[in-house]
Amino acid sequence: MSFKVTDKVTWVGKIDWELRSFHGEEYSTHRGSSYNAYLIKGEKNILIDTVWQPFAEEFITNLKKEIDLNDIDYVISNHAEVDHSGALPLLVKEIPNVPIYCTSNGAKNLKAHYHEDWNFVEVKTGDTLDIGGGEKLIFIEARMLHWPDSMMTYMTGENILFSNDAFGQHYASDLMYNDLVDQAELYQEAIKYYANILTPFSPLVIKKIEEILKFNLTVDMIATSHGIIWRDNPTQIIEKYMEWAKNYQENQITIVYDTMWNATRKMAEAIAEGIKSIDKGVTVKLFNAAHADKNDIITEIFKSKGLLVGSSTVNKSIMHATGGILDMIRGIGFKNKKAAAFGSYGWSGESVDILNGRLKDGKFEVINDGIKELWNPDKDGLERCREFGIDFAKKL
Ligand code: FEO
Repeated sequence: MSFKVTDKVTWVGKIDWELRSFHGEEYSTHRGSSYNAYLIKGEKNILIDTVWQPFAEEFITNLKKEIDLNDIDYVISNHAEVDHSGALPLLVKEIPNVPIYCTSNGAKNLKAHYHEDWNFVEVKTGDTLDIGGGEKLIFIEARMLHWPDSMMTYMTGENILFSNDAFGQHYASDLMYNDLVDQAELYQEAIKYYANILTPFSPLVIKKIEEILKFNLTVDMIATSHGIIWRDNPTQIIEKYMEWAKNYQENQITIVYDTMWNATRKMAEAIAEGIKSIDKGVTVKLFNAAHADKNDIITEIFKSKGLLVGSSTVNKSIMHATGGILDMIRGIGFKNKKAAAFGSYGWSGESVDILNGRLKDGKFEVINDGIKELWNPDKDGLERCREFGIDFAKKL
């Protein structure tokens, strides 16, 4: 499959409808994904990125239907990660001398992945490549968005920003453009992608967008490397990134817990009742960490101003699903969010103290000592939990 994006630019990527996890099992892809590669045809022929290795042969076969590979003048590798560089080894076997334009970190990382010394041409922000017809490609390094080697490429004339991972979504769709797909699905996949992948780099996102804006480039399309192409009001996603990068939060409190015999679940529900009793406008969402999707939970925490985490005590510790979410939170580095802990226990009762420590490690502002209930909370115990919820909501 291929399709014309403009007269000069053809999409030559792969839609991966089957994909349900990415980065191993680190990122769920409920709606599949795509690996977008683009072929520019004109006085010079340029391939921008490739696809993940399992689709390399299919990619090369399809590419040959678009162009004689020997007619490709340049390859642009915006990012060395294998989902975009995976077909390079096969491609370079066919056209061994083709210049591969990438950042210096890109060359290092491609060498470290494939152990080949290809014809790398290292570029920096502001470097250009003449592609004929008075047009050129302008390179923009995007270090740590999200790898040290990441870069974007802007094509003059067509005014397309090939942004690679930035502004993408893990979202398979044959509709290809932002204005044609279901807007709720698109928003959900875009915010999930930002929350889980880009939050750690939010300060760099702001700086990079401000730097790109200084170039005063007209952007008619943002052609990402995953998901749809932004063509209708393409800068809307840039504006969203600026909003999301500034310690984004909505009027939401998320409660994440794990429970052995439902006591901690009852505590979670009583806390939620307490919150709603004094603030009807706040959205409260509950997730059992052992049952809900971890990346959906992270997305909801990203949207929240407050987080409550609960776990029964087991083996003097916390339950593993809750521990997994807390590890993810620490790595992601959320800012400006308040938190508290709760949990049931039978004898030693360590869970709440452990949760408090883990939340502080994750840079959450823990606003009280938490609440623990012995075995199965009775009417008074549940009332204490409701009061705990009221107190939490008042302190946000
Ligand atoms: Fe889509 Fe960082 O690779």
